Amino acid sequence: MPLLLLLPGDGIGPEVTVEARRIAEALAIPGLAIEQAPFGGAAIDALGAPLPADVRSLALSADAVLMGAVGGPRWSGQPFHLRPEAGLLELRSAMQVYANLRPARLFLPLVAASTLKPDIVEGIDILFVRELVGGVYFGEPRGIETLPSGERVAVNTQRYSESEIRRVAAVAFALARARGGHVTSVEKSNVMESGLLWRETVTALHQAEYPDVPLAHMLADTCAMQLVKAPRQFDVILTDNLFGDLLSDLAAMLTGSLGMLPSAALGSPGSPGLYEPIHGSAPDIAGKGVANPCAAILSLAMALRHSLGAPETADRLEAAVERALEAGARTADLGGTLGTRQMGDAILAALERA
Ligand code: NAD
Ligand code: IPM
Ligand code: MN
Repeated sequence: MPLLLLLPGDGIGPEVTVEARRIAEALAIPGLAIEQAPFGGAAIDALGAPLPADVRSLALSADAVLMGAVGGPRWSGQPFHLRPEAGLLELRSAMQVYANLRPARLFLPLVAASTLKPDIVEGIDILFVRELVGGVYFGEPRGIETLPSGERVAVNTQRYSESEIRRVAAVAFALARARGGHVTSVEKSNVMESGLLWRETVTALHQAEYPDVPLAHMLADTCAMQLVKAPRQFDVILTDNLFGDLLSDLAAMLTGSLGMLPSAALGSPGSPGLYEPIHGSAPDIAGKGVANPCAAILSLAMALRHSLGAPETADRLEAAVERALEAGARTADLGGTLGTRQMGDAILAALERA
């Protein structure tokens, strides 16, 4: 029996996850079991660790894990390993979900919601493929040390092996080929050895296995500028863990709001996927019932497509989100007045109209 594990987490995480849960229940996928477990700050408070051992095991045995968000000021004074974010990094690493798909697609009804001009953003459909279990997030050595002089020094290490680059690049090329698109590989090969190896490895893989997929290389700073200047030039953007984090938040604003962008983190075929809105726990609006649940609901759609064997239901759910937006449903981040629950209701109603 397929298992969907929900990890609501902290802040607005539980508020948006419950809307995704209502939709998952309404979709009534035959045989789908839905479970829920504590994660992040909520798990630190209840059980003393951000990713308790039995939650980790449950996640590894699930077919799909749908996370809300983790973190918040309550835990930010803690050492790193006792912070909610450490649980998320540990989960990504334990699941070995190395390819993080972050689609930045502008729903037509939201053309005016972007802070950029409509003629710049209309029609954008960018798919980020972000490396998720390597790079500076995980590289050793890391830490803060105190020199004999008493001065403190902080160290993080950007580290990528050829095989780590190759496996995520292969995902980007395969996805670009399937959608008839092209790949822009993004790094800083002008100043970083890891960027140089990235460019060389991507080029070699391209020549050997994907010569039919158009490939361009771009430096990460230029990419940030081009995303704002002319975002429609991009199709699939392949990049590392840190640049992927930054650039996908930027791209979210092209589509209207950070509250719109879902993600799917995938590992080797057949292993469980991890699905998360790309936004955080939004402490500034948590508890108010005003968060946009679309990113969480669209992450559920990605889980249906990539892990739960229900691609047609995923299409139906995405179409329902679009219809709800067409009918004028908007949370505050999109310039509207609906609360989180009402936005969930609007999408449920649109699903029923399908
Ligand atoms: P954030 O993404 O939580 O919020 C940034 C801004 O976007 C805030 O103004 C917030 O109100 C708004 N926003 C975010 N999601 C929204 C939604 N669904 N609807 C409406 N508005 C939304 O980023 P932050 O404030 O820098 O980080 C807060 C905490 O979240 C930190 O502890 C951070 O580490 C954590 N975080 C977690 C994740 C995750 O769990 N995947 C991702 C990013 C940040
Ligand atoms: C994200 C978040 C995470 C990241 C944090 C919370 C660990 O910002 O998923 O985008 O940096 O990957
Ligand atoms: Mn982020």
